[in-house]
Amino acid sequence: MDKRPLTDLIVLDEISKGFNSHNVRTDILIQADFSVLRGETIAIVGASGIGKSTLLNLMGTLDPPDSGKLMFEGIDLYSYSEDKLARFRNKRIGFVFQFHYLLQGFSTLENTMMPGLINGNKKSIENHAVNMLERVGLKNKILDRVEDLSGGEQQRVALARALLMGPDLLLADEPTGNLDKKNSQSVHELILELNKELDMTVIVVTHNSDFAGMMDKRVTIEEGKIVPTI
Ligand SMILES: Nc1ncnc2c1ncn2[C@@H]1O[C@H](COP(=O)(O)OP(=O)(O)O)[C@@H](O)[C@H]1O
Ligand SMILES: [Mg+2]
Repeated sequence: MDKRPLTDLIVLDEISKGFNSHNVRTDILIQADFSVLRGETIAIVGASGIGKSTLLNLMGTLDPPDSGKLMFEGIDLYSYSEDKLARFRNKRIGFVFQFHYLLQGFSTLENTMMPGLINGNKKSIENHAVNMLERVGLKNKILDRVEDLSGGEQQRVALARALLMGPDLLLADEPTGNLDKKNSQSVHELILELNKELDMTVIVVTHNSDFAGMMDKRVTIEEGKIVPTI
């Protein structure tokens, strides 16, 4: 039985965020509160343009709020300097996007090792990257150039790269938005297995209702607030 206490990994405290473009103001979040438990899986769902990516990027420390606090294990992350925040992000948060952003011309292994090359030991990073690639089912492709892989395989490399530093939090923005049904399903299953195996909190933006249905919670954005949905 799982005896871990339920603790908050992330708390959004009265977060407001909007954009001004062409003299038009769009408010996305208005004094929104939200909390994410350690180990939880959450889907952010809803129509295009409601602010799902904005919310994910904000939680991933990529885009600061206009006001309010993002607490991660009780620490106000946006109070960090940019350098400190970048180090925190590199170690603690893994990202997967709809487009894989792999570096063409480099191998599967080299791409997976990238987040560890800033100040890690190359040999241990390489061993770890091989383990991660094995875990996502790509052991026989480690020396292939990423452009020679299928779309599903490329997204698995992106996932292995996101896992390299052992993040506490995986953020995925429409990770299977470009994949066919079969590849999507296997990536969905893989993400949920990794959540359990690695005790890694997972937040995904997805339009796939099957995938959203596999998560512990589903939320959307309504009138500036983050609200539960079916
Ligand atoms: N950097 C930006 N500058 C101006 N407007 C933006 C910016 N990022 C997002 N927006 C606007 O904010 C709204 C929400 O965008 P987004 O978070 O990408 O929505 P979703 O991911 O739900 O489709 C959209 O109207 C979008 O055009
Ligand atoms: Mg989006």
